[in-house]
Amino acid sequence: MRFLLSIASLAAIAAAFPFVAEQEGIKNSHIVRRQQSGGYQPGGPETCPFNPNHEYPVPVSDEFQYNGAKGGLPGRGQGGYLVPDPEDPDHQFIAPTDQDIRGPCPGLNAAANHGFIARDGISNYSELVDAVQNVYNVGYDLANFLALVSIVVADGDVLTTKVSIGCDATTRTANPLSIHGSEPGLDGHNKFEGDVSLTRDDYFLGKGDNFNFNGTLFGMMAETTNGTFDFNGLAEYRYNRYVQSRQENSEMFFGPLGLFQYGAASFVYELMPSGSDNYVPTMENTKSFFGAKQESDGTWTQIPEQIPANWTNRVTPYSLIDVSVQIGEMYGKHPVGFGGNVNGAFVGLDFPPFIEGGNITAAKPSDYACLLYQLISGPIPSSLNVLVTPTIEALQFVLTMIGGSSFTNLGCAIPVTK
Ligand code: HEM
Ligand SMILES: *[C@@H]1O[C@H](CO)[C@@H](O)[C@H](O)[C@H]1NC(C)=O
Ligand SMILES: *[C@@H]1O[C@H](CO)[C@@H](O)[C@H](O)[C@H]1NC(C)=O
Ligand SMILES: *[C@@H]1O[C@H](CO)[C@@H](O)[C@H](O)[C@H]1NC(C)=O
Ligand SMILES: *[C@@H]1O[C@H](CO)[C@@H](O)[C@H](O)[C@H]1NC(C)=O
Ligand SMILES: *[C@@H]1O[C@H](CO)[C@@H](O)[C@H](O)[C@H]1NC(C)=O
Repeated sequence: MRFLLSIASLAAIAAAFPFVAEQEGIKNSHIVRRQQSGGYQPGGPETCPFNPNHEYPVPVSDEFQYNGAKGGLPGRGQGGYLVPDPEDPDHQFIAPTDQDIRGPCPGLNAAANHGFIARDGISNYSELVDAVQNVYNVGYDLANFLALVSIVVADGDVLTTKVSIGCDATTRTANPLSIHGSEPGLDGHNKFEGDVSLTRDDYFLGKGDNFNFNGTLFGMMAETTNGTFDFNGLAEYRYNRYVQSRQENSEMFFGPLGLFQYGAASFVYELMPSGSDNYVPTMENTKSFFGAKQESDGTWTQIPEQIPANWTNRVTPYSLIDVSVQIGEMYGKHPVGFGGNVNGAFVGLDFPPFIEGGNITAAKPSDYACLLYQLISGPIPSSLNVLVTPTIEALQFVLTMIGGSSFTNLGCAIPVTK
């Protein structure tokens, strides 16, 4: 086994969360036990919307080209155009119905509300890779990585490549012949979704609702950033949120995947701003993407996420190394411990070689990129109460889909799978 929690933290974790003990420690690498909200709980299959009419999104065409991304392949890598094209009949805003699934990601919710991904919220690998290139000009390497994480890090299905952008829709995402267990979708906690989000409650504090917009948190983000939503403001807000969770949430867990939260925060000032505002993040824009609406008493409520009017996407692709730079800088501004609260005390964890005793040793942007890679390419100590260890099929899928170059070019070690 390459990536082990330290023995001390593993013992503390196993004692606090018997679920771990049931798993023969982390050695049980072929069993995927996924934490999920089952049954009628928030995010669970019984309350998950069901749309009998799954319609694929209309792909880009010669007339409405966007980034030219189709079929899960790289597009032109050239942005700076209006999204949606005002003449394009298939990608205008339509509010979701109660049969449509939405989840913790404002970027994907907005893309679904504009029909760049299926409006019912059941998506798949190539759809996601195409959509984030065409809408946001996410670089192909990062688009590929995000889509792989969403499918492989236990939220979706590697055979069908399908994933729900919100609650558990296993009946529609799984291959009936290959069901190993449930596929919680992006709502699944401590998979891709984690504690210390910008505008979503921690799983424990929200009593299982870790995916709905929380207007109080949006208001705090707006206030802390002075309405600017820039790097400095978000670095500060992320730090405040960490402190808040660590104090308030007795089950707070902030593992290596916590770094994704910094990546998502960078999307607010790197992907959401519009050319019509000289690419400076604004309140108008940000609130439209988050679906935040301010009431007359100053509080924030939610309306469906929408791409703002006259929105012009970023010009150059936002690549894997770009996001790694932002993650490193934002985390580096206020370094915090990795680990979780166990019996009232914070226990640091190890994720060698980049996290030791809860402290990060990653220094260069490429270290952050390799750390991200390590998260999807080997057994993952994903949480204090569940250990996500991808199956051999999943690891094979990653190695095939990652195409070799984007991470090896950065000097990341390629793990050997047995
Ligand atoms: C395939 C691509 C993507 C996937 C699979 C994905 C998935 C996710 C997930 C699972 C979360 C929840 C993390 C958490 O809060 O615990 C999230 C958050 C977020 N995503 Fe995405 N995302 C993708 C692309 C994008 C894009 C293109 C944008 C840009 C607009 C975006 C913006 C955000 C933001 C701002 C958050 C933080 C929300 C909050 O904490 O309140 N995402 N994403
Ligand atoms: C994924 O979705 C696209 C449409 O967005 C569709 O053309 C493709 O067949 C789907 N792939 C799978 C494996 O279901
Ligand atoms: C929203 O977040 C605030 C601040 O963390 C919290 O006090 C409140 O309970 C949350 N509201 C809901 C509805 O979860
Ligand atoms: C917000 O404005 C206040 C008062 O001008 C200032 O002290 C604070 O540093 C600003 N915060 C950020 C993140 O810029
Ligand atoms: C729309 O954005 C373009 C630049 O992308 C700008 O020149 C134009 O003035 C904007 N129009 C409106 C109505 O805001
Ligand atoms: C990180 O390192 C510091 C010493 O520099 C130590 O006090 C701390 O306990 C370590 N772990 C965490 C989780 O912060």
